[in-house]
Amino acid sequence: MKPLYIMDTTLRDAHQSLWATRMEIGDMLPILPKIDKVGYWAVECWGGATFDTCLRFLDENPWQRLRSIKQLCPNTPLSMLTRGQNLVGYHHYSADIIDHFIKASHRNGVDVFRVFDALNDIRNVEDTARSLKECGAHFEGALSYTMSPVHTLDSYLEYAQQLKDIGADSIAIKDMAGMLTPYRTERLVKALRDEIGLPIHVHCHYVGGMAPANYIKAAEAGADIVDTASAPLAFGNSQPAVEMVVAALKESGYDTGLDLDLLFEISDYWEQVRIRGKWKRGVSSLMHMQVYSHQVPGGMMSNLVSQLEEQNASDRLGDVLEEIPRVRAEVGYPPLVTPMSQIVGTQAVFNVLTGKRWSVVSTEMKDYIAGYYGKAPGPIDEEISKKVLGDTKPLPPDVAPGSLVTTTYDEVAEEVGDLAQSEEDVLMYALFPNEARAFLEKHNEEAETPFLEDTISSSKEDDYVDIAQIRELANLVEETGVGEIAVEEAGTKVVVRNPEAVGEAELAESSQPAEAPAAPAAAAEAAPVPDDKERPATWLPITSPMVGTFYAAPSPDDDPYVAVGDTVAAGQTVCIVEAMKLMNEIAAEQICTVQEVCVENAQPVEYGTVLFYVEPVAEHAEDATAE
Ligand code: CO
Repeated sequence: MKPLYIMDTTLRDAHQSLWATRMEIGDMLPILPKIDKVGYWAVECWGGATFDTCLRFLDENPWQRLRSIKQLCPNTPLSMLTRGQNLVGYHHYSADIIDHFIKASHRNGVDVFRVFDALNDIRNVEDTARSLKECGAHFEGALSYTMSPVHTLDSYLEYAQQLKDIGADSIAIKDMAGMLTPYRTERLVKALRDEIGLPIHVHCHYVGGMAPANYIKAAEAGADIVDTASAPLAFGNSQPAVEMVVAALKESGYDTGLDLDLLFEISDYWEQVRIRGKWKRGVSSLMHMQVYSHQVPGGMMSNLVSQLEEQNASDRLGDVLEEIPRVRAEVGYPPLVTPMSQIVGTQAVFNVLTGKRWSVVSTEMKDYIAGYYGKAPGPIDEEISKKVLGDTKPLPPDVAPGSLVTTTYDEVAEEVGDLAQSEEDVLMYALFPNEARAFLEKHNEEAETPFLEDTISSSKEDDYVDIAQIRELANLVEETGVGEIAVEEAGTKVVVRNPEAVGEAELAESSQPAEAPAAPAAAAEAAPVPDDKERPATWLPITSPMVGTFYAAPSPDDDPYVAVGDTVAAGQTVCIVEAMKLMNEIAAEQICTVQEVCVENAQPVEYGTVLFYVEPVAEHAEDATAE
């Protein structure tokens, strides 16, 4: 028997799961020296959504955050989560960018790299593994855990062996949806211990509450490390509380040896941060518990609810929950983790709301089916594949999706030019060009101020409106992709804009009277309801199946876009409606001629907005063109 080691996730996964990753470095710094004394196996404090959020919402340099934490936590290894070929972004990067990013992360303070791929496709991990081996950092290969007929014990062992073959130093079981049960954990840990022989790290989200029992079974089965968070940031969608796991294992052969009094001093601090920021604590709602029945992760569930509310279709949630497993089975059972949870969930919403399954398909789903995200875990339904891909050729199985990206570090460095003053600046730009440009332009001009003092002294004096409410709204606009939400409080109108929708990285606060037009120019008015103009009875409307933004699609002839007079074939894309960060192709149902284009490019549209009037091409004409 041996002690169970603990990794603290409070500074990364916990606030990503509960506080939308909005904890600032100023809140972390005062407590770091105490955290450093605990004796954690590692402190996870970087990667995942933290890099993105620092730039997009917190006006913080993510590299500086990492260096500051390292400075105050010199005795504890620091850990980060990286999404394989996607690093901390949302699409594939080249092997060269990955190499620079991994080595810079190690140089700036990351000791342990947990690397996962949403599809458990080893090809998406290989470039990262190579760089990790070169710089000598700890490479933790993670299994994205899910349940399906193709996710067998053997399939996980096979993937773990692949990770070991490319140099993994430990294996993590990443149960992002809270689906593991104590006895499944026991079986998996035992099998990995016997067959693979690397240290085993178990990562559970609390969700319905089984995680602590999983950890105990994991310890008994021979696992080495588990993940916990400080109590004020534990439970619900986050990890189990460290205090609970430490207490549970006392007087056993797995005693963690951690000082419970010290841990409570730390959790007192976090509780004050939580109260000051008006952050919610982690709870397990009925919706969370139901993951055991419908297998839809809690985070995905709240997204679905807001998507449906937006489409005035909250009453269809039950249908969507039935549709998700169907869609997932049809596309080869991808684990429901970012980005697959969004892609599968949105497809299920479309299938239910349009009433015609697979009539609207996002570009991301099409790319997934074509193999650009990696290999699907199971076979994809052939008819759906044919319907979705049309003439598009799938990626040949011997081509790694990441190998298609060839942009080099030098090319990015040249593009960003003098704006970047370090390799870290260039990498920031390589991953998030728009956000990095805005950040670097702003901060290059500023006089240099000592970073630590600067952030610690940043007060909350400007909280003249309920900042927690604004934060919640910001989460909502981010999750739903809606353009903006306005609230009034004490005569002050606060407009929370979606930075993705309007291209700005800051929450806008306007102190103007409520009736003043506070909306930014970019948030244009939604398309009007169809007018009552008389049109020939043969003209049929094509309406928007969702709330989103209309984008014209390339025309079948030489025009840049589908325009009046064009004849489009059945199944041909007539426009794209962007919603929930996904690009959705809207196709003609039959061969027809466009008679009227009712909305302008980049205009917001509502559910049911008429986009086009088209006239079906008569039978004989269709025959004539066919001959
Ligand atoms: Co997690």
